[in-house]
Amino acid sequence: MKNIVLAISGASGVCYAQRLFELLQPKVRLHVTASERGAELLKLELNMTLNDFEGDNVTVYKNSRMNASIASGSFPIDAMVIVPASMGTVGRIANGISGTLIERAADVILKERKKLIVVPRETPFNTVHLKNLLALDQAGAVILPASPGFYHRPDTMAGLVDFVVARILNQLGMEQDLLPPYEP
Ligand SMILES: Cc1cc2nc3c(=O)[nH]c(=O)nc-3n(C[C@H](O)[C@H](O)[C@H](O)COP(=O)(O)O)c2cc1C
Repeated sequence: MKNIVLAISGASGVCYAQRLFELLQPKVRLHVTASERGAELLKLELNMTLNDFEGDNVTVYKNSRMNASIASGSFPIDAMVIVPASMGTVGRIANGISGTLIERAADVILKERKKLIVVPRETPFNTVHLKNLLALDQAGAVILPASPGFYHRPDTMAGLVDFVVARILNQLGMEQDLLPPYEP
């Protein structure tokens, strides 16, 4: 079973994380954490807490728990997804600041040359945001903006969420049938 870290930071769009969790939980071992602001967004947007992510094959960590297994390069993590990714979290990781578990786990993923998928949610971007996103891209991360397409003609919010989640699953190498391949 793959080991995947799911990190929720303080940007709008925690619904992407919740849907990704739902689809990954039966298939992989999940390590879930949220920043303090991420936990607030969970409450605000979904009326959920981090504890709602407890379950089979899941370990939930406080973001302050710097001695967690996922903070070490010796732990066999396959990939990490930061969704949604706030500009604060993006900026700190891009600049090597590893003061929280999310930041340290991302730092480890990059140094171990594993897959880091960053799903930023901000608009518009300023120059600092763009430079930090470029720095992460250059360090090996995949920048996968939370910007759904419309060519599959979604008529619900779930359809929009699934568009982005399908792209994340593709990047993780997981099979998905949320979004069929585009055919003109
Ligand atoms: C309701 C609310 C929505 C927010 N949405 C965003 C957002 O979409 N993108 C973003 O970069 N920051 C957003 N922020 C600001 C971040 O939460 C803030 O910069 C925070 O310090 C980020 O901390 P973190 O990176 O540790 O989660 C939002 C804040 C609040 C209160």
